[in-house]
Amino acid sequence: MTTLKNLNTVPFVSVDHMMKLVLTVGTDTFLTELAAVIEEDFLRWEQFDKTPRIASHSDEGVIELMPTSDGTLYGFKYVNGHPKNTREGRQTVTAFGVLSDVGNGYPMLLSEMTILTALRTAAMSAVAAKHLARQGSKTMAIIGNGAQSEFQALAFKAILGVNELRLYDLDPAATDRCASNLAGQGFTIIKCATSQEAVEGADIITTVTADKQCATILSDNMVGPGVHINAVGGDCPGKTELHKDILLRSDIFVEYPPQTRIEGEIQQLDADYPVKELWEVMAGKIEGRQSDRAITLFDSVGFAIEDFSALRYVRSKLEETGLYTELDLLADPDEPRDLYGMLLRCEQSLQG
Ligand SMILES: NC(=O)c1ccc[n+]([C@@H]2O[C@H](COP(=O)([O-])OP(=O)(O)OC[C@H]3O[C@@H](n4cnc5c(N)ncnc54)[C@H](O)[C@@H]3O)[C@@H](O)[C@H]2O)c1
Repeated sequence: MTTLKNLNTVPFVSVDHMMKLVLTVGTDTFLTELAAVIEEDFLRWEQFDKTPRIASHSDEGVIELMPTSDGTLYGFKYVNGHPKNTREGRQTVTAFGVLSDVGNGYPMLLSEMTILTALRTAAMSAVAAKHLARQGSKTMAIIGNGAQSEFQALAFKAILGVNELRLYDLDPAATDRCASNLAGQGFTIIKCATSQEAVEGADIITTVTADKQCATILSDNMVGPGVHINAVGGDCPGKTELHKDILLRSDIFVEYPPQTRIEGEIQQLDADYPVKELWEVMAGKIEGRQSDRAITLFDSVGFAIEDFSALRYVRSKLEETGLYTELDLLADPDEPRDLYGMLLRCEQSLQG
């Protein structure tokens, strides 16, 4: 293996290498360090180019590109969202991403981001809750026990010390799998028969369901004073999880308002309804939770800067772990302008 300084190849992190990277670093450490990198980048929010993600919708789902740059590095993620996929043995969400050098435009990393998205979404949720949930929150309901759910649980344990989970999914097999995957990891786990039962006594409610419609995963009477809602599953036009009345009773915190107004729970509200930006809470510019009785809502949709942070973090781990391969992705003729000559020489060598 050559070093990361090799100019003409691009480090590539496959799914296999990503799993080994997470296990080598340790899942809790990975989530905690990734959360710290996300916070670091949110604290320099104003340095980034920002745009709502570029979405291509179909009847079945969505394919999105999520670009951003801090002026030194450029990153983008390709991600889909297809709720029907699991019925065909495919993931609802799958992704890959690129990190590049702004100075010369060359890619510096190509990485799988299906696992990385689950980790970064969970780390982001936990960072938001660290700033918004009531002190001492230890019990979390998770409604929707699919691919993202265990990662959410582990991030909330690593970053907030959540140690009691109340799980509910329409499909009891999903709840059984989630509970069994998380067994022996320091949680008390209660499998619930209804979403109403799941939210009983919960300090934090995570909704992470997948359905291409405006659903009512939480109705107004299910949310008591003091609760923090981590609403992850409503992340597309026409795809929400919360009854509108909950939004009207909550202090709403978002990543990037121009994107969340299109994709988040707040698509149900007027375009000028007041919401707060999470980076301003992290930077101490505005207050997060105002009282123990307030209902705080993180209207998560997933923003490009979080993926940029995740790619930046993964790249920082490559040299020490060697968990990547080198891709022959960049043409490198001896004389940069002689691209055709390189093709001719290849032809000559093939002809022997
Ligand atoms: N905000 C973000 O940054 C972000 C990131 C990744 C994924 N997501 C979203 O999170 C959601 C979950 O993703 P996933 O990869 O875990 O999907 P998944 O398909 O693996 O799991 C979704 C689970 O929700 C359950 N479900 C559907 N409707 C339900 C209902 N009414 N009540 C209870 N459970 C219900 C399904 O049975 C399934 O087990 C998706 O909507 C996805 O788009 C958001």
